[in-house]
Amino acid sequence: MLQPLGKFLHVKLFLIAAFLLTYSSSLKIGETCRTSGSDCDVGLTCGICAANNNTRPRCIRTQPIIPTTKVKTLPFNRYSWLTTHNSFARVGSESSMGSLILAPSNQDDSVTDQLKNGVRGLMLDMYDFNNEIWLCHSFGGKCYNVTAFQPATVVLREIEVFLEQNPTEIITIFIEDYVTSPYGLTKVFNESGLSKYMLPLSQMPKDGKDWPTVARMVKKNHRLVVFTSKSSKQASENIAYLWDYVVENQYGKNGMIAGSCPQRPESSPMNTASKSLVLMNYFPTNPNVSTACIDNSYDLISMMQTCYDADGKRWPNFIAVDFYTLSDGGGAPEAVDRANGRLACGCDSIAYCRANATFGTCNVPVLAPPPPAQLPPIARADEHSKSSPMSRPLNPHRFILAILTKALLMWL
Ligand SMILES: *[C@@H]1O[C@H](CO)[C@@H](O)[C@H](O)[C@H]1NC(C)=O
Ligand SMILES: *[C@@H]1O[C@H](CO)[C@@H](O)[C@H](O)[C@H]1NC(C)=O
Ligand SMILES: *[C@@H]1O[C@H](CO)[C@@H](O)[C@H](O)[C@H]1NC(C)=O
Ligand SMILES: *[C@@H]1O[C@H](CO)[C@@H](O)[C@H](O)[C@H]1NC(C)=O
Ligand SMILES: *[C@@H]1O[C@H](CO)[C@@H](O)[C@H](O)[C@H]1NC(C)=O
Repeated sequence: MLQPLGKFLHVKLFLIAAFLLTYSSSLKIGETCRTSGSDCDVGLTCGICAANNNTRPRCIRTQPIIPTTKVKTLPFNRYSWLTTHNSFARVGSESSMGSLILAPSNQDDSVTDQLKNGVRGLMLDMYDFNNEIWLCHSFGGKCYNVTAFQPATVVLREIEVFLEQNPTEIITIFIEDYVTSPYGLTKVFNESGLSKYMLPLSQMPKDGKDWPTVARMVKKNHRLVVFTSKSSKQASENIAYLWDYVVENQYGKNGMIAGSCPQRPESSPMNTASKSLVLMNYFPTNPNVSTACIDNSYDLISMMQTCYDADGKRWPNFIAVDFYTLSDGGGAPEAVDRANGRLACGCDSIAYCRANATFGTCNVPVLAPPPPAQLPPIARADEHSKSSPMSRPLNPHRFILAILTKALLMWL
C-alpha cells in the first residue's frame, strides 16, 4: 500500500505547490509585497520610495511593454525605447582590473538583465585603455584603473547573445566616444559579432524623414542602431554621428527644472524637424539611488509633456534614466508605454493600442484606483503590518483564494 499512497501524496504536494506558486506570484502593481521575496507579478518588483515617504513595500514596474508586440509595422522613429544612462555602471561592480571602482554607479543590474527587462537603448562610454577599448566612467577623456568597469567586448557580447536569442528585438547603442585608436570601434563591434546586425548608415535619414520600418529592420536583420558622439567616425568607420540624427535635452541637474526642456549644447534645438529622433534625458548630475524613485515617477512623466511641447509636439523615442527599476509605481516603464501609445496609435498607453486600428482608436480598460501610496497612520505605528500579507488590500479574488487554501488544507 506504500506505493499508491506515495503517489497520492505526490499529487497533493504538486497541487499545493502549484497553488502556492499561483497565489504568491500574483500581486499586482501597487499591492503590498514583501521586500525580501518576489511575490509580485511578472514585470514587477517589490520596492519602497522612502525619499517620497512611501514606506509601504509595494509592487512597482520594471518592464515596459515591448511596443513592437502591439503595433508591428511602423517606422523605427514611431516607437519609444527605455534607455539606461551609463548602462554598464552597475552598483557594486568591481573593475576587471581588480581595483575598487571609485566612479559613481547608475544602474543596479547587468546589461543582460536590463535587456531582459525590456531596456532597448544603452548609453556606453568607450575609452582607449589597457590596449583595448573599455567601458569607463571617467573624466578628462581618460580612463583609469579606478574608473574602468569592463572591456567593451564583454558587454557587447551580452548584447550579441540577446539579439541572437531574440530575433525580433531591436537595440540602440549611444556611444560616448573617447576612442582615438584607428578603427577602434569597428574592431570591438567585429570582435563581439555585432557588426552584422548594424543598420547601415545609408538607411538612416538625415532629412527628418521616416526611418526604415521595424518590420524591415527585423527582416534584414539590421537590428542594431549605433550612434557615436565623434563626428569623424561617420566618415572613417561608417558609424552614425549622433547629432546628425537625434536631438537631446539637457541632462543632469539643469535638465530637471520643471517646466523647461532646453537642448543639450551638442544638440540642435529640440524642435529641429530634420532630426527624426528625440532623446529625453532625465537624471541628476550625480546619480542618486535614494532619490531616483522620485525622479522616475511623476516628475519624469511631467517632463515628457514639457519636452513634447518644446520638441515641436514630438514624444521621445528614447527615455534615458538612472536606476530604471526604481519608482513609486509605474516608473520609467510607464513613461515609455505612454510615449509609445502616443507615437504608435494615438492612445494614452501602448497597452490601449488595437491591432490594425485607425490612429486614435483605443481600448481603454476601466481600472480600480490603486491603493494609497502611504501607510495609514494606524498601520504605520504597527510595525508588523508592514510585512504581513494581511495588510494587502483585500480583493474578492484573494478572498476566494484564501477559502480555497483552507479547503485544500482540510482535504489533506
Ligand atoms: C516626508 O515626511 C517628512 C516628515 O513628515 C516631511 O518633512 C517631508 O517633507 C516629506 N517628504 C515628502 C517628499 O513628502
Ligand atoms: C592598474 O592595474 C594593473 C593591473 O592590476 C596594474 O598592473 C597597474 O599598475 C595599475 N595602474 C595604476 C596606475 O595603478
Ligand atoms: C571588420 O569586419 C569586416 C567584415 O568581416 C572586415 O572587412 C573589416 O576589415 C574588419 N575591420 C576591422 C578593423 O577589424
Ligand atoms: C541623494 O539625495 C539626497 C536627498 O537630496 C541627499 O541627501 C544625498 O546626499 C544624495 N546622495 C548622493 C550620493 O548624492
Ligand atoms: C492585422 O493585419 C495583419 C497584416 O495585414 C494581419 O496579419 C493580422 O491578422 C491583422 N490582425 C487583426 C487582429 O486584425
